[in-house]
Amino acid sequence: MVAVAPLSAPKYRLSLRLSLIPETYREELPTSSFVRPFSQPTGIHYPDRLVKTRPPFSWVGGKRQLLPVLRDWVPPKIDIYGEPCVGGGALFFNCVFNERRLVEGGLAYLSDRNADLINDYQFLRDDPKALMKELSRPEYANNELAYWKVLLFHLRTPVERAARLHYLQKTSHTGLYRETKEGFDVPFGHRANPKIMDKRRIMALHQALQGVAVFHGGFEDVLKKLPKTCPKGKTVFVYFDPPYIPLPKKSQAGRRVTSFTSYTKDGFTLQDQRKLAQVFRICHERGFHIMASNSNSPLVSKLYAGFNIQTILATRKSSCKPATRGPIPETVIMNYRPEDGFRLVS
Ligand SMILES: C[S@@+](CC[C@H](N)C(=O)[O-])C[C@H]1O[C@@H](n2cnc3c(N)ncnc32)[C@H](O)[C@@H]1O
Repeated sequence: MVAVAPLSAPKYRLSLRLSLIPETYREELPTSSFVRPFSQPTGIHYPDRLVKTRPPFSWVGGKRQLLPVLRDWVPPKIDIYGEPCVGGGALFFNCVFNERRLVEGGLAYLSDRNADLINDYQFLRDDPKALMKELSRPEYANNELAYWKVLLFHLRTPVERAARLHYLQKTSHTGLYRETKEGFDVPFGHRANPKIMDKRRIMALHQALQGVAVFHGGFEDVLKKLPKTCPKGKTVFVYFDPPYIPLPKKSQAGRRVTSFTSYTKDGFTLQDQRKLAQVFRICHERGFHIMASNSNSPLVSKLYAGFNIQTILATRKSSCKPATRGPIPETVIMNYRPEDGFRLVS
């Protein structure tokens, strides 16, 4: 009888993956060959009967559970919307689009540094049929062998990469997306019946993304796309939700806190945080309304001194360890006061 090595221990799976897979199979497509170039937004058009659109991905640090608070702080009428660290887009889909806060014909700019994510958004917007056809193939099955095959070998074409991201979201452990220098490294989730191909959801997203600019880039690139000054009588609203400033492991009243920055291979450094605060200030000088989320770190108070800084409680699931998942304070920085008619701070 042949002994079969157990595939259930995450450590074993990781070493299997990294040591036994030849380099050639791990070769990734260069970003420029699978992410489409920037194209100008043509404006949002709401259908007569608006179907509520659920965000495409549940992303680490996603803002879904903070919406009851954030909703009151988002301007009720927006002419131009920018979200340069869009991730799963919880604020855009749930609040800005579903609540029609962006005016009819209003312009939206969504971007992110994660090329796979942007490639997926572009398929949802431009070619959902190709995405659904790919996801219908038997390779995207809910079992561990299929999971590792998709994870390791399906990197060849843009549509395979888009389908792979959808598939991993539905089948990986807690749907977590985490990238290291070697790539995506989350174990199989053993879920009972994940909806790997959700046609209704894909088509609702396709509709919501019509006329929206979705592009690959760093948060600073939004400055090149948005107007140099806020058009008179209009509201330009930008939401920055970057990877958070890491907190000391045992801060927050003795609780253990995890800090997640592995959304892309490059991570997010303190230098990036400083640059982001400068971009925030440039947007302020242009007369935009800006909101940013970050951790409850002393550096946030320093970088955003003079702005409206609020603290809220959030429950996070970026860690696999339940002990690190309780509610922790986060900050929301705004250059305006919602309670004062959204008046900009001077
Ligand atoms: C906290 S998540 C955003 C979550 C999102 N608001 C949601 O609700 O799903 C942070 C995002 O920033 C992106 N990111 C990381 N580095 C970046 C950079 N230099 N420029 C732009 N986006 C970046 C990550 O890929 C990730 O999607």
